[in-house]
Amino acid sequence: MDLFQYGTDPWGQEIIIRLAWGLLTLSFWAGIGFVVFHAVYAVVWKPRVEPEEASAAADAAIPEKIVRHTGAARMFHWVMAASMIALLITGFFPIVGLEFSWLTIHWVAGLILILCIIYHIVHASFFLDFWSIWILPRDLKEAVRRTQRQLGATVAIDKHGKYPLDHKLYHLAVTIFGLVVSVTGLIMMFKIENPIVPMNELLFEGAAMGNDPAWGVVYATHGFSAVLFVMLTITHIYFAIRPEKLWITKSMIFGTVSREDYLAHHSPKRWDVTPPKPKAKPPAPAPAAAAPPPAQSQPAS
Ligand code: HEM
Repeated sequence: MDLFQYGTDPWGQEIIIRLAWGLLTLSFWAGIGFVVFHAVYAVVWKPRVEPEEASAAADAAIPEKIVRHTGAARMFHWVMAASMIALLITGFFPIVGLEFSWLTIHWVAGLILILCIIYHIVHASFFLDFWSIWILPRDLKEAVRRTQRQLGATVAIDKHGKYPLDHKLYHLAVTIFGLVVSVTGLIMMFKIENPIVPMNELLFEGAAMGNDPAWGVVYATHGFSAVLFVMLTITHIYFAIRPEKLWITKSMIFGTVSREDYLAHHSPKRWDVTPPKPKAKPPAPAPAAAAPPPAQSQPAS
């Protein structure tokens, strides 16, 4: 299978012009294949693994409803999801034969996605628990222990922090390819007529008649990350609608998870949800000692 589509530059040399769309078919079926494999695996093998018990020694301070996603975080997620679906439809439907005027909707959805990403970077860096979503050394140690347990070993395992390793891996992939697709998409804006950036086909040094090989690399890179999003989106939606994950999906709609779900899946040590304790008031000053009665002045004799 070809990885790229080729064309010729003005001197007749073969150059890459974009990704070969056979990779779109591959990504789609890889996503579907993963879903089918996982669904069968979950039925056939998964029940042999003991479910994690809710922590008995739960802190009484853990509230009945725990905020998992603030309103701002949920709004970001759904706007980003809508823009992503719009980008996938406008990017790929014409390629698979459903012709329509897609370009303007595509770049507008692209700019919305980029604004969402910028907003999310600021929000997560300054207002959320920044490190909770990144893969840290302890996640890797835990992954080894979980694999051992999956293979039948008796290994003690802590419950998760706010995000388990699979969520962190997914977030990492979306971060990398989201940035790649956004940067290349922005560069490609110079190739099309639009009211935001001036059209400039000769953007790259040495470009001749807009047919520079650098454009091919940009288009192929955009196409590659776009194609990966097909697989990433299929698997993401699959996990979101799996019955045992619905409590997480609901929290992306309503914001909260129940105390039971929290205790069944999370370690209070690793994701502390107890309300901040009110700061102890400084002790009240001791009442002033009774002042001695003023000395009686003796009348002069
Ligand atoms: C996951 C998100 C995205 C997907 C699935 C996607 C998909 C695609 C696909 C399949 C193409 C056709 C590429 C080709 O012909 O080689 C394309 C072109 C394009 N995309 Fe995206 N894209 C995404 C994000 C973005 C973003 C964030 C922008 C930024 C504004 C953007 C702007 C463009 C532009 C300007 C073109 C060029 C169209 C042309 O020259 O005819 N895309 N996109």
